[in-house]
Amino acid sequence: LTPKSMAGRRVLITAGPTREEIDPIRYISNYSSGKMGYAIAREARLRGAQVTLVTGPTALTLPCGIDVVPVNSAEEMRRAVLERLERTDVVIKAAAVADYRPKVRAAAKVKKGASELVLELEKNPDILAEVGAMKGDRVVVGFAAETHDLIANATKKLTGKNVDMIVANDVSQEGAGFNVDTNIAKLLLRDGTVEELPKMGKDELAGVILDRITTLAEAKGRA
Ligand code: PMT
Repeated sequence: LTPKSMAGRRVLITAGPTREEIDPIRYISNYSSGKMGYAIAREARLRGAQVTLVTGPTALTLPCGIDVVPVNSAEEMRRAVLERLERTDVVIKAAAVADYRPKVRAAAKVKKGASELVLELEKNPDILAEVGAMKGDRVVVGFAAETHDLIANATKKLTGKNVDMIVANDVSQEGAGFNVDTNIAKLLLRDGTVEELPKMGKDELAGVILDRITTLAEAKGRA
């Protein structure tokens, strides 16, 4: 049995992709399946936490016993997270949020015509950076999905977004990242520590991430 090491903790997890609509039938998105975030949600629940899962569209079965908030776009995910931040102790952002969205969403289907079509994009808000800026004594954990310069890019996210830990995954490695059951992660902490983990199931990785979060929460007097 998993000890109820997170009993009473209010944990908000984001998972899955976001969809940024082009018109009523098309969108920009990514290959996130939600498996990583859902695994964390399930494990946090097993450990006794009060879990909220803000999820982009996925094909996964919703975990039992947790509060699920389905969203579509990055803007919807942002609103769902910020509205709940006040009553949250731990935020874990495993979602793959689209960095850009179409500047204009066409009200009707975009019809085929010209041989080239230019889609203008504008930046989405960075939810993790917003949460980091107002985190107070919450524990805030982000992910970094990289295909090169893993540690350098993840370190930038750790400090730039003011988070306590980054789970860095090199998504170009086989058995890591998007839409697989395993992951290969490095955990980066503010004190410069980098913990290299071997390839493991996302369920097992979820447990390691939550162990480290429990330690971080204890250090902040939030455990
Ligand atoms: O869902 P799976 O198929 O299981 O795949 C898991 C995963 C690869 C999606 C997961 O392990 C992962 O790496 N998630 C983060 C993906 C990502 O968007 O990384 P990023 O490096 O672009 O973003 C860094 C962090 O900022 C992330 O915590 C992200 O949630 C957050 N972010 C990014 C952009 C944005 N506009 N707002 C954000 O909050």
